[in-house]
Amino acid sequence: MSSNIIEEELAKSTIFKDESKLFPEYVPPTLPCRENQLRKLASIFKILVKYPGKAAPKALVLGKTGTGKTVTTKFFGSMLCEAAQRRGVKLHYVHINCRKYRTPFTVLRKITSMLIDVPERGFSDEELLAKLQDALCGREDVLLVALDEADYFIRSGGGELIYKLTRLMDEVTHGRQALSLILIAKDDAPLLLLDDSVRGGFQRNLIYMPPYTSEELKTILRNRVEEAFHENVVSDEIVEMIAQASSKWGDARYAIELLYLAGKNAECEGACMILPEHVRKAIATTHPEVRAEELAFLDKHQMLLLLAIARELNRTEKVYLTTGEAEQAYTCICEEYGETPRKHTQLWKYLKELHNMGLITMRISGKNHRGKTSLISIDNAPTTVMIKVLENELKKM
Ligand SMILES: Nc1ncnc2c1ncn2[C@@H]1O[C@H](COP(=O)(O)OP(=O)(O)OP(=O)(O)O)[C@@H](O)[C@H]1O
Ligand SMILES: [Mg+2]
Repeated sequence: MSSNIIEEELAKSTIFKDESKLFPEYVPPTLPCRENQLRKLASIFKILVKYPGKAAPKALVLGKTGTGKTVTTKFFGSMLCEAAQRRGVKLHYVHINCRKYRTPFTVLRKITSMLIDVPERGFSDEELLAKLQDALCGREDVLLVALDEADYFIRSGGGELIYKLTRLMDEVTHGRQALSLILIAKDDAPLLLLDDSVRGGFQRNLIYMPPYTSEELKTILRNRVEEAFHENVVSDEIVEMIAQASSKWGDARYAIELLYLAGKNAECEGACMILPEHVRKAIATTHPEVRAEELAFLDKHQMLLLLAIARELNRTEKVYLTTGEAEQAYTCICEEYGETPRKHTQLWKYLKELHNMGLITMRISGKNHRGKTSLISIDNAPTTVMIKVLENELKKM
């Protein structure tokens, strides 16, 4: 018993009170600096609670990486559900990360499963859509669906499902307007792929999230420091240093990641507080454009291919690789990891997906090359950081 107490005490962190408050998926109890956006969302969607089934507004949440699109929409979704519950309205909020639920079918399945049990297989998209329609017609429930990473979803062919979802209740006579949509995106260019009338509906209700200023990042960081760290572990000077380092991007995710890593560095060294050197080390090993939680959604072979490209670009110090070179590097990596390489056509599909996700860029070669080939490069992050994160993720698999 007494040895347990000692072990427990030894296992306690002197740095962190609760690490999970720094995880990217954590939704904090307050959201500073996003009050205007929350207000706008409330004014658009209050009708779902006031007159459920009477109208199905749409909205578009737009902003760069780490500007709080996901957390603000989730926060809003749960606030609206609470308000609905207080009034006896059956409102369900569904937040779908389209990078995770990659295909229109899996997205549709997730939405439908909010109302009824859906078997994993045995339905076509159309049948599932009809089931969802029936379920919405026969009940009082109202759905608010947030499609996160919608730009990626539309680029990889999800536009048709968005169109069908917006039209779902129009086909039914006396159909209740029971399904509202929020699209969340970094970039609104892919919206051009949507039908004009559908796009207009979203763009009319635009909620823009500007990059955070250094002052705003400080406020966000201070709140997290209080939730996640023991007292006196993080000084205001350190908060300022991290806010400064991330203000170039206005990216709260990067700021919180730096705070977390700096804490980890301090813990590893047995320090009792975060020192500037711990922050510097964190800055040296991360990049805002390389996000482990995003890379974790990739298939194993997509990861291997991306790792091959990153390593080859790093080794050769070239600006780009041809598809042939990428394929060769990938084959070598497969050998290293004891995997059977995928066929050429599959690799081509993977490359297009990686391009759609913004992890690589592909363009067709110019005159200097014999014949046409695609040129592959990684432009927005150091390959060294990408390599480290991917190797780490592959180790976890
Ligand atoms: N106003 C805020 N208050 C507290 N925490 C915030 C705020 N804005 C963002 N965060 C935190 O910053 C991180 C990034 O936010 P979020 O994931 O919502 O960004 P995003 O805009 O969805 O980024 P991406 O485009 O990369 O998906 C999360 O950990 C989130 O909790
Ligand atoms: Mg997000």
